[in-house]
Amino acid sequence: MNTRTKYPPWLNQAIFYQVYPQSFYDTNGDGIGDIPGIIQKLDYLQWLGVNAVWINPCFVSPFQDAGYDVSDYYRIAPRYGTNQDLYRLCREAHKRGIKVCLDLVAGHTSIDHPWFRASCRHKRNKYSDRYIWTPSAVWGTNIPLPMIRGYAERDANYIANFFYFQPALNYGFARPAADHPWQQPVDAPGPLETRKELVKIMTYWLSHGVDGFRVDMAFSLVKLDPGYKATIRLWQDIGQEVRKHYPDAVLIAEWGNPGESIAAGFDFDFMFHVGVPGYADLLLNENCFFRRHSDGNVEGFLESYLKQSAKTKGKGLISIPSANHDIKRPCSDRRTASDLKVIFTFLLTWPGVPFIYYGDEIGMRYIPGMPSKEGGYVRTGARTPMQWDDEQNAGFSTADKDRLYLPLDPRRNRPTVKKQAKNPGSLLNHIRKLIALRKSSPALQAVGALIPLQVKNNYHHFAYLRQSGSERFLIVLNPSSGPSQVRLKGIKSDNLLPKVSHGSKTCVEGDDIQIDMDGVSYGIFKL
Ligand code: NOJ
Repeated sequence: MNTRTKYPPWLNQAIFYQVYPQSFYDTNGDGIGDIPGIIQKLDYLQWLGVNAVWINPCFVSPFQDAGYDVSDYYRIAPRYGTNQDLYRLCREAHKRGIKVCLDLVAGHTSIDHPWFRASCRHKRNKYSDRYIWTPSAVWGTNIPLPMIRGYAERDANYIANFFYFQPALNYGFARPAADHPWQQPVDAPGPLETRKELVKIMTYWLSHGVDGFRVDMAFSLVKLDPGYKATIRLWQDIGQEVRKHYPDAVLIAEWGNPGESIAAGFDFDFMFHVGVPGYADLLLNENCFFRRHSDGNVEGFLESYLKQSAKTKGKGLISIPSANHDIKRPCSDRRTASDLKVIFTFLLTWPGVPFIYYGDEIGMRYIPGMPSKEGGYVRTGARTPMQWDDEQNAGFSTADKDRLYLPLDPRRNRPTVKKQAKNPGSLLNHIRKLIALRKSSPALQAVGALIPLQVKNNYHHFAYLRQSGSERFLIVLNPSSGPSQVRLKGIKSDNLLPKVSHGSKTCVEGDDIQIDMDGVSYGIFKL
């Protein structure tokens, strides 16, 4: 095995913030956020307490899929600035104790990438095998992969990785069929060249101060790979190559199956809307646990989480994000700031690596029914401009309203950073408090022990302990609209010190703890 046995130690205290760069902060008045804008907001991120950012793809691209269609991996898209701006961002972030991770689109490029253009040519050339091509544009092959017909001069069809304009890079097939020589083995010259190029891209950005990558569709590289065994081996090799020179490089998988991705050498992976089950029933579905009027139960999520956690213990971490650019924000479907406070109390006291999607910290809304922008479709409503203040365009940009990347949330009372920073009872200040508590309390960090309590047949509250050495916290959450009583037996404590709490009263009775919780309430108690 080539995997590292341990992730970089700073991840134990990491709290990530995801920046969708086009919507974060625009400094040149073109209506689109930019890297100098991220630099200007680093003081805000430091004030909030986060210590790492993940930036969605910011490389040259025709932006048919918001930058997940790269046409030059070595250059920052001019709309975001220059490579020099990115290097400066890394320096400025590091000065404030913030790490910077980029988005690595490893599985496909744009159809505009010069490699693909060359690969489309009839005449064989250096890039003919950089992508996966079937033998004829006319005669189909019967394979369970999306094939795009008739695009190229070359008499062949290419395999798409996501949208049609994202041709899959060729990392080979796990078990190439003997009668289909176009299915190349992973160690054929074409796939080996692709892999070499990927390592070159990664080391290029690492050499300029980047701390790591979130890898887009990391599971997708080797084709027809049952159980992802060949993909796991491929990532082990890539990780080893990269870490020879950059031993602390952080690799974050977009895989959705920590058991697999951490075996592949990733430091952590997400449990979210795709992959192993649990997240949707916790946060996303109509009837999920974190909804006032649902009869959702936390059991399904917990079972799935504990399974993944057992597989990855001591080797890698799991992240439960507040949301991301592909799903609805937590502030959707009638949730209010009070509901969000309960959700964030959970997210920031849970083991692993918390991820806050930009704007979720002030309860920005998912805006349904927006026309699609840059391949966003239903995701577009989660990508609107950040709401900084009550000035023009909510302080996001000085451009004319109709030149903004996307329209702002039109509500007059939309939340802003400025308003919430001033209000001690705001969601923003709640999250800031939770972050500070987590950073100063080893038991609440990534690897502090988790002891779930009262899970079976419980539709209202959820209680758990977090523990490290002699430090112990009890967390109780009641996302439902009605009150709930929690009786915890055999948890010895003379004193329950509320650290962050609302609507929960505690009483120690012998060896038991009785907690009376109002509807929509939370409590973090130090034992
Ligand atoms: C996952 C990304 O998060 C999503 O936004 C993108 O459209 C696809 N991968 C394709 O790259």
